[in-house]
Amino acid sequence: MFQPGAVGDLPKPELYRELRQQLEALLSGERNAVANCANTAALIFHALPEVNWVGFYILRGNELVLGPFQGQPACVRIPVGQGVCGTAVAERKTLRVDDVFAFPGHIACDTASRSELVVPLVKNRVIIGVLDIDSPLPARFDAVDQDGLERIAAIFMAATEFA
Ligand code: SME
Repeated sequence: MFQPGAVGDLPKPELYRELRQQLEALLSGERNAVANCANTAALIFHALPEVNWVGFYILRGNELVLGPFQGQPACVRIPVGQGVCGTAVAERKTLRVDDVFAFPGHIACDTASRSELVVPLVKNRVIIGVLDIDSPLPARFDAVDQDGLERIAAIFMAATEFA
């Protein structure tokens, strides 16, 4: 049974270890993409300190389309190659941006966002979308966050079926 817990005060590696256990419990027995996106976004949003937006964009053709998220309403469609999200897809790698205003083509959805981490979601070598996390603090995300969130994304992808 899933037990929500306060993990925000733990040291980062422990926080992510706790978060992985919580996510595995939360997604256990459910493969629906909308349900799992929604619960994963909510879990991360409430577990991580200093984040203002956590959510999914799903690739449809050559565009990323907004999926379940927590935070302020966001831009709905992002072409591949544009913004931090579209660039992460085009380059097929996680992007960690310390200062979003210094990123050429950054798309400002929530004007409070200062730094951002975008993890491409890959199934059988095909990108199906991205997990996007924004923070109101500059340089909020370090290598530990990147590793932690890439592993969270991998658990999410293993648990979830995409049509
Ligand atoms: N900043 C993103 C757009 C999505 S929002 O942050 C929710 C980007 O540049 O792709």
